[in-house]
Amino acid sequence: MHDALVALRNAATPPEVFRRMAVRISLLLAAEATRDLPSEAITVKTPLAAADGKRVAADVVVVPVLRAGLGMLDAVLELIPAARVGHIGLQRDEITAVASQYYAKLPRGLEESVVLMIDPMLATGGSAVAALDLLKRAGARDVRLICIVAAPEGVALVERSHPRVRIYTPAIDRELNAHKFIVPGLGDFGDRLYGTV
Ligand code: URA
Repeated sequence: MHDALVALRNAATPPEVFRRMAVRISLLLAAEATRDLPSEAITVKTPLAAADGKRVAADVVVVPVLRAGLGMLDAVLELIPAARVGHIGLQRDEITAVASQYYAKLPRGLEESVVLMIDPMLATGGSAVAALDLLKRAGARDVRLICIVAAPEGVALVERSHPRVRIYTPAIDRELNAHKFIVPGLGDFGDRLYGTV
């Protein structure tokens, strides 16, 4: 996990490596966030005999927050291929850092689902809370937020606004700068993912 995080932080990492590292760390985080999902017993036949096993028995919905969250989506689907996918588009005003929603499409029936919201940078927490508000209004009850780097302010705001949401992150960094970027952080995740710096 931490080798991937250090590669993501390194300003010299090119987008193709950045994307690969984002997938690697997201897979590990998603495994952590889904460790306690209910499972059901199954039996399969190996070439030699019957073998007992288990498979996930929960309806899982993955919700990337656009656009940076898309860099984590394939990894989560690799782990839980049957997951349904919703999308939330939030744009952060570059001056005020206030998030406004420009797109939302969510699967139905979130009440009984385990919702994995994926948003790599938990900075002020403003966009995370806006997305969590939306998920709550849509009926979601079990929501887990997976991010790659968090700031103390963002963690505190999410915990205050949505105390039942569990946050999975490998790093809580020092602070936010005047532009509300996480320091040391890794820069603009979406720009580094897509080479739009
Ligand atoms: N979004 C980013 O991509 N990076 C930050 O540091 C904060 C928000």
